[in-house]
Amino acid sequence: MRRPSTLLLLSLFFSCIHSCFSLSSLYKGSSLSVEDESDHLISSDSSFTCGFYKVGTNAYSFSIWVTNSIDKTIVWTANRDRPVNGRKSRMWLHPDGTMVIKDADDSTIWSANTSTPEVDRAELLNSGNLVLKNPSGRILWQSFDFPTDTLLPLQLITKGKSLLSSSGRGDSSSGFFVLHFDSDNVLRMMYDGPEISSVYWPNPDFDLWGNLRTSFNSSRLAVLDETGLFSSSDKFNFTASDMGLGIIRRLTLDFDGNLRLYSLNESTGLWGISWAAFAQECNVHGICGRYGVCVYTPKPMCSCPPGYEVSDPADWNKGCKPKFKTSCDSQQFRFVALPYTDYYGFDLNYSTGISLEECRNICLKDCSCRAFQYRVGLCYAKGALFNGRRTPNFPGTIYLKLPKSLEVQEPSELNKSEPICNSSQGEVVIGSSEMFTNGGSKEYTHFFWFALGVGVVEILFIATGWWSLFRKQGMPKEGYQAISDQFRRFTYAELKKATRNFKEELGRGASGAVYKGVLGDKRAVGVKKLWNVIQGEEEFWAEVSTIGRINHMNVVRMWGYCAEVKHRLLVSEYIEGGSLDNHLFSSGGTNPANALGWNERFKIAVGMAKGLAYLHHECLEWVVHCDVKPENILLDKDFEPKIADFGLAKLSERGMLGSNFSRIRGTKGYIAPEWTLNLPITAKVDVYSYGVVLLELVKGSRFSNWVGDGEEEVGLRSFLSAVKEKMGGRDDLWVGDFVDFRLGGQFNWKQVTTMVEIGVSCLEDDRNSRPSMSVIAQTLLACE
Ligand SMILES: *[C@@H]1O[C@H](CO)[C@@H](O)[C@H](O)[C@H]1NC(C)=O
Ligand SMILES: *[C@@H]1O[C@H](CO)[C@@H](O)[C@H](O)[C@H]1NC(C)=O
Ligand SMILES: *[C@@H]1O[C@H](CO)[C@@H](O)[C@H](O)[C@H]1NC(C)=O
Ligand SMILES: *[C@@H]1O[C@H](CO)[C@@H](O)[C@H](O)[C@H]1NC(C)=O
Ligand SMILES: *[C@@H]1O[C@H](CO)[C@@H](O)[C@H](O)[C@H]1NC(C)=O
Ligand SMILES: *[C@@H]1O[C@H](CO)[C@@H](O)[C@H](O)[C@H]1NC(C)=O
Ligand SMILES: *[C@@H]1O[C@H](CO)[C@@H](O)[C@H](O)[C@H]1NC(C)=O
Repeated sequence: MRRPSTLLLLSLFFSCIHSCFSLSSLYKGSSLSVEDESDHLISSDSSFTCGFYKVGTNAYSFSIWVTNSIDKTIVWTANRDRPVNGRKSRMWLHPDGTMVIKDADDSTIWSANTSTPEVDRAELLNSGNLVLKNPSGRILWQSFDFPTDTLLPLQLITKGKSLLSSSGRGDSSSGFFVLHFDSDNVLRMMYDGPEISSVYWPNPDFDLWGNLRTSFNSSRLAVLDETGLFSSSDKFNFTASDMGLGIIRRLTLDFDGNLRLYSLNESTGLWGISWAAFAQECNVHGICGRYGVCVYTPKPMCSCPPGYEVSDPADWNKGCKPKFKTSCDSQQFRFVALPYTDYYGFDLNYSTGISLEECRNICLKDCSCRAFQYRVGLCYAKGALFNGRRTPNFPGTIYLKLPKSLEVQEPSELNKSEPICNSSQGEVVIGSSEMFTNGGSKEYTHFFWFALGVGVVEILFIATGWWSLFRKQGMPKEGYQAISDQFRRFTYAELKKATRNFKEELGRGASGAVYKGVLGDKRAVGVKKLWNVIQGEEEFWAEVSTIGRINHMNVVRMWGYCAEVKHRLLVSEYIEGGSLDNHLFSSGGTNPANALGWNERFKIAVGMAKGLAYLHHECLEWVVHCDVKPENILLDKDFEPKIADFGLAKLSERGMLGSNFSRIRGTKGYIAPEWTLNLPITAKVDVYSYGVVLLELVKGSRFSNWVGDGEEEVGLRSFLSAVKEKMGGRDDLWVGDFVDFRLGGQFNWKQVTTMVEIGVSCLEDDRNSRPSMSVIAQTLLACE
């Protein structure tokens, strides 16, 4: 107890009654009472105070708060979810060394697990750390080891320790947002509610690479230092905007799920925000509860979609509830569109390359489907509606499944930034200002202004995230989310440097030009600069989402992508041998010495078949190349073929692609008849093109040159029937006439015959009569 030493200080005594009567140490056997307002522990520099704190009517918590902050901001609480009575309760440093909190009825509400007689005193340090010390000053227990929603400078967050947000109800009780080190050593934030849990930070649309994190360092250690630098063992770090010593800071996981660094202005007692994890609140998952949608108005607010109403206006976390009974009769439903809206995750089903109508039918047929999201050929059937958000730039639309009998306002005419529902229409905007202004509206106004300036990077990050990497929200499983480790995002500057400002062009096609480059780690790469960015976005998404996972020796390996403003680039391995057309048809090609030997040709036929079979049947998503031709077959130095250029690839789940291809893809001479006949496009279009290449490998010249250019159809038909007739004949001497003369008779008859037979069967008009790529691969391998 700090006592005034002389009577002369008596007047001072009254002026500082608050702090002067408070203790800096509490010795064993003594206690702090809830009834005495001044019964506090105060740090020696008086920055922090510890004692009972009123959290409700006759409800008190034992907390540490920042002395000079206007609202006495709590930074730690012992009995967070078990407040004690306003009478008779006390914190007692028991003679046996335990620190306990006793309620009015003398029951123990909380205790620090240190029952050692060694404990001498409790002390509140200048760092805000409440410690139990032995007589020689060694720390036996510290509140820093049991963080609540706030981390103070020098307080470590380690394995097993987490920040848990408060509920936002005005008391300090626990909420649902958690910051912790995950089992893979990465510092994450998640919503961990009663019904769902959902990770929202770092950005779940990216893998670790994309988020500049690492899981390799298993020390699981993060700390905010006294200058305002936060650093974590997973490589995450940030600095306070007011970096420097001598400022009281706190890093708090707020009740709205955002992690913010606050700095105290000692002269006003107000907190300013000097860093925040999210500039866009609506990216926090779970914030508006079930069915709720977070909307910028421009202030972030929660609202209920049409057909739903707020569950509990006092608690936005409870979200919305349907105004109708759910049933399974598909006749009874219709769909209401919510443009620019997304409900992240919880997908029953994910399909690509299908029409809106087909997507609708998937949802209609599935009883558990509540809505579907549709976006340029991508269809996500939603089994639960959580993490709703609506942002003006979001390129998808949610279609809510509602009973036909229910009358609702169609929101499709609304302006992008308006709440989905108008409160005058009987729908309540939940959360509203309370939700984001609790704790001082000035604070948050400040934050949003701050966000405009400093948060630009974050906004850009999120924006490019949305536009560049289409989201694998369909698959909640970790393994699906993480694209291959080696697939990463590059900056434009990095690629510009790697290609020496796009100096060496390797080739160009309909979708873009490819340049040679060398990455920082000396890897040679091909960088494809896609043009027609606006129109090509669809293709870009298709490519990026798929290619990271494709890994086969006969398919060009993709290393990453770049999406910056108007730039769209893809980075692949560099194949030194050039493309097949150069080897097969080049002008020097008539010189027998330069021609590809038979063994190489057969190897190419087999490799292509294996690569395409992989794309069609084996990789995670069904990939149809749609533009198989010699120009897109690259050869390495051993003449191992690698299929390149997925610029025109469309994905599909293992099923039909549907018939909604907007325009013909592929190259004249290699395209299957169904393109022009407007029939559904399947993997069999690649089989057709492969058949053409196969015959060209045998013949050594362009197919179109020998089936008659002008009347292709007629020429092809007569060619095919002639070959079929000969194949049906008794001898196979005709094969000799068919083979490239440059081979000088050096070829394997059996292999040639097989290749021609396969080639011809690939060119069947009826796509169902064409063999599949896996059958072709097996047939070829059988005669290797
Ligand atoms: C004290 O120990 C008990 C039982 O081991 C545990 O349930 C409780 O959470 C501990 N309290 C603290 C503050 O660590
Ligand atoms: C792991 O992280 C800790 C804390 O950030 C750091 O001190 C240590 O050097 C890191 N270890 C490695 C191998 O990077
Ligand atoms: C912070 O992270 C960046 C990359 O994210 C890294 O370049 C920088 O060295 C890190 N700073 C500290 C102090 O760890
Ligand atoms: C504290 O607030 C006052 C009044 O708003 C302002 O003039 C001063 O610059 C602030 N100090 C800091 C360090 O931000
Ligand atoms: C997708 O939905 C269809 C139709 O409801 C269903 O038959 C199929 O099993 C679903 N696929 C997955 C992967 O859930
Ligand atoms: C949308 O905003 C524009 C301009 O701000 C306004 O003219 C129009 O009436 C608004 N539409 C609706 C449906 O509110
Ligand atoms: C919302 O309600 C107000 C007041 O009734 C009305 O003026 C406004 O037009 C409504 N907005 C929409 C988008 O329906």
